[in-house]
Amino acid sequence: MKVLVVGKGGREHALAWKIAQSFYVDKLFCFPGNAGIAEVAEIPDIADDSIESLLDFAIKESIDLTVVGPEDYLAKGIVDAFEAKGLRIFGVNKDAARLESSKAFAKEVMKAAKIPTAAYSTVTDFESGDKILKTSKYPVVLKADGLAAGKGVIICATYEEASSELSQMLGGKFKSAGAKVVIEEFLKGEELSLLLLTDGTNVKPLLFSQDHKALNDGDTGLNTGGMGAYTPVKSGTDELYEKVDKTITQPLLDELKKRGIDYRGILYIGLMIVDGEPFVLEYNVRFGDPETEPLMFMLISDIVPYFRAVTGKGDTTLEALPELVWRSGYGMCVVLASGGYPEGYEKGKVISGLDSVDENCVVFHAGTKFDALGNIVTDGGRVLMVTSGGKDINEAVENTYKNVEKITFDKAYFRHDIAHREMERN
Ligand code: AMP
Ligand code: GLY
Repeated sequence: MKVLVVGKGGREHALAWKIAQSFYVDKLFCFPGNAGIAEVAEIPDIADDSIESLLDFAIKESIDLTVVGPEDYLAKGIVDAFEAKGLRIFGVNKDAARLESSKAFAKEVMKAAKIPTAAYSTVTDFESGDKILKTSKYPVVLKADGLAAGKGVIICATYEEASSELSQMLGGKFKSAGAKVVIEEFLKGEELSLLLLTDGTNVKPLLFSQDHKALNDGDTGLNTGGMGAYTPVKSGTDELYEKVDKTITQPLLDELKKRGIDYRGILYIGLMIVDGEPFVLEYNVRFGDPETEPLMFMLISDIVPYFRAVTGKGDTTLEALPELVWRSGYGMCVVLASGGYPEGYEKGKVISGLDSVDENCVVFHAGTKFDALGNIVTDGGRVLMVTSGGKDINEAVENTYKNVEKITFDKAYFRHDIAHREMERN
């Protein structure tokens, strides 16, 4: 079959890398793609990255399955557009994407379904918000309602900071995404990611994973899209999974059904574990980045039948497929970022050392491209996800950082302590 992956980040490289190994796939395309993806998929010549142009291409090429990475395509209705033309596409429809594209909607659904999450209020004007902030406990969390490229969540230590931030958000700091703001109680605990494949009724869980959102070692500094991740996680026990299933996953799927929302795709649950009890920080409607890189590295099962089953147009159902099978031990990735990220940074730096990594290491590309001379150069904030594994977490860390050291570009930046919690537990 012919498959098209939509997107251009490390997540899409990992998905394309995995799909390329599928027994069922004869031809793989990815658009817009990047310099690394070009090694596992053909980057077709498409006029632009609009839904219309992608749809034209999929029809012309008779693509059998399209797999969507980024949330903005889902929120804009790429799945609805492809399905309207009878095409098979993996991802949630526009209605379901609201679970990520509106934090206020997600909170309202959680409340209706009695899903454990931080107490909150939603505000659209400064006066009522400021009144809430005057009586809030600190720190407090402010979240822009809409999609803000992972930057719309601010943890405020004091009333003064929160009040000023609220005024900036409502004043257009995140454009229309901040027209509504969720004011939320701060939860203290350990963050875990749980990704599930679901057809709206049945679920097939991926392993628990853990991202590292803060820029610097020791989980300090600015919030980023994620600086590294590992899987599995010792605190992600079977007992915890059962709790999440009972108090979060099933009530959510029931509530979505009640509202007539047909949820098919990935459900990413961002969890905070507080004294052993799971709370939802956020839902995402797509694969996490960088969690997907170690997850695909560790996955043994062919993922394509699962994608097909989830679309409801497969030759089998998700329920009928076996649980996903994983390599033993640990997988992890370390993000190499451009110095200055998540704020301003330079592009176009030549990357060296990509060919010198060990055989058991995969370097997934995010912001990379070929320059006019054919060099691979930096083209974004997060540039590379160096991914490897080991029989235990210490070996995985050693194998991964050994390879991180082999790759370099001007002003490259990375964290030195990815998986520190798991190592401390060990
Ligand atoms: P989100 O985009 O909603 O995942 O938020 C980004 C990050 O902010 C999360 O990964 C957490 O580290 C942090 N965060 C969000 N909500 C809360 C909360 N209620 N309590 C503590 N930290 C939070
Ligand atoms: N790794 C966090 C996210 O994908 O939202």
